[in-house]
Amino acid sequence: MAKNLRERFSKAIDPYNAEFVASVREDDRLVPFDIQGSIAHAKMLAQQGLISHDERDAITHGLQKILAEWQAGKFTLDPAYEDVHMNVEHRLTQITPAGAKLHTARSRNDQVALDLRLWAAQECDAIIGAIRTLQDILGARAQQHEKVIMPGVTHLQHAQPIHVAHALLAWYDALARDASRFASCWERLNVSPLGACALAGTSLPIDPPFVARELSLAGAFSNSLDAVGDRDFCVELTVACALLMVHLSQMAEMLVLWSAPEFGYVELPDELCTSSSIMPQKKNPDMIELVRAKAGRVFGAVSELLATLKALPLGYNRDLQMTKGPMFAAADTSLGCLRAMSLAFEKLEVNVARLEQVSHNSQMLATDLAEYLVRKGVAFRSAHAAVGQIMRHCAERRQELARLSLKELRRFNPAFEKDALDLLDPRVSVARRNSPGGTGTDQVRKRLAGLRGAHGE
Ligand code: ARG
Repeated sequence: MAKNLRERFSKAIDPYNAEFVASVREDDRLVPFDIQGSIAHAKMLAQQGLISHDERDAITHGLQKILAEWQAGKFTLDPAYEDVHMNVEHRLTQITPAGAKLHTARSRNDQVALDLRLWAAQECDAIIGAIRTLQDILGARAQQHEKVIMPGVTHLQHAQPIHVAHALLAWYDALARDASRFASCWERLNVSPLGACALAGTSLPIDPPFVARELSLAGAFSNSLDAVGDRDFCVELTVACALLMVHLSQMAEMLVLWSAPEFGYVELPDELCTSSSIMPQKKNPDMIELVRAKAGRVFGAVSELLATLKALPLGYNRDLQMTKGPMFAAADTSLGCLRAMSLAFEKLEVNVARLEQVSHNSQMLATDLAEYLVRKGVAFRSAHAAVGQIMRHCAERRQELARLSLKELRRFNPAFEKDALDLLDPRVSVARRNSPGGTGTDQVRKRLAGLRGAHGE
């Protein structure tokens, strides 16, 4: 089956072996990067006098032709040629005899390391762009609902009222860190391994920094064994995807809960929901549930990569080929889920009336009362105890905190005065929680004003 590189063998390759070692399915997306790297390599070979300028031009045109064929769906990778590198080289030699010189001072080992780095660099850009889109949508929705409040929860139990915008901006900040993880991952992978060859470099007079410059990479490798033998950047990219998916799955879970009838905080539009094959009334948030679930695949990719790389001997090992699938799956899944969450946050309807209604649970104002006492000079622990007794009193009588009279409050602590009653309003509570980074109205307004174009970096 394999149509080349078999001169040292006396037998043709076993068809099952040929299929087993081929990576053409994963490699298809690497075609443009492989060609980009080869064009830079040919330019360097010509500059170094290793091929003629005519040969360089013939190679370059041939590679551009292959790229156009690939873009038109006319160049498909044949498993008989194992991988993208052999497929491109084989096609190139059909186009020009100079193609036979392209592999001078190069190995598939440094080639694949380069292709993966170029692909990963582009992917970091794409994911950062998609994160920013979602951030912009969260920022716009926060702006739109700047005044709306909702119950803030801990342990999923009502805790303190907050601005809806504060919740949306919490995710905005988490996404800013995700974007910066991809950016720092990009910085480390932005290195050209071309010229490392199989493992040890070459006796031919090559110029790896020239190739790096041609490819707009920050520089060339400094150790040829490391350049071909490590895939830590694949893990870093996948880990960045995994943390992003942690965040997206958390947002997805909130949207699933908030759109359930018990909450009713938001409603997803019909076009983003799916129905049931038996229950005609159903409007299900399947798209969001799948974001929640797909996080699992990305976490699995991290484990798969770590397990593949662990304890590998120094130098290139074919095991490294297995880093492609999980990394590609992690990036594809992340991009797909970012798109889904952007659609959801862009199109969901916020049920302002419902949020207003549930925010008027005055039990959530207990901390405001305790802080009132602190302002009157009461030690926080005593204030906490006094308000705790008040809350027990309310619970036993099934009474709303906001319905207590000043007289009743003073039974628990004489420091309460008339102005304490003014605090028993969620809007007052939210407006006053103005410590830096808090949900206070001024804090949120300031944060919203600072967002424009900033993406939180
Ligand atoms: N297809 C391989 C990979 O993806 C590159 C080829 C290296 N093969 C070799 N025999 N050294 O890693």
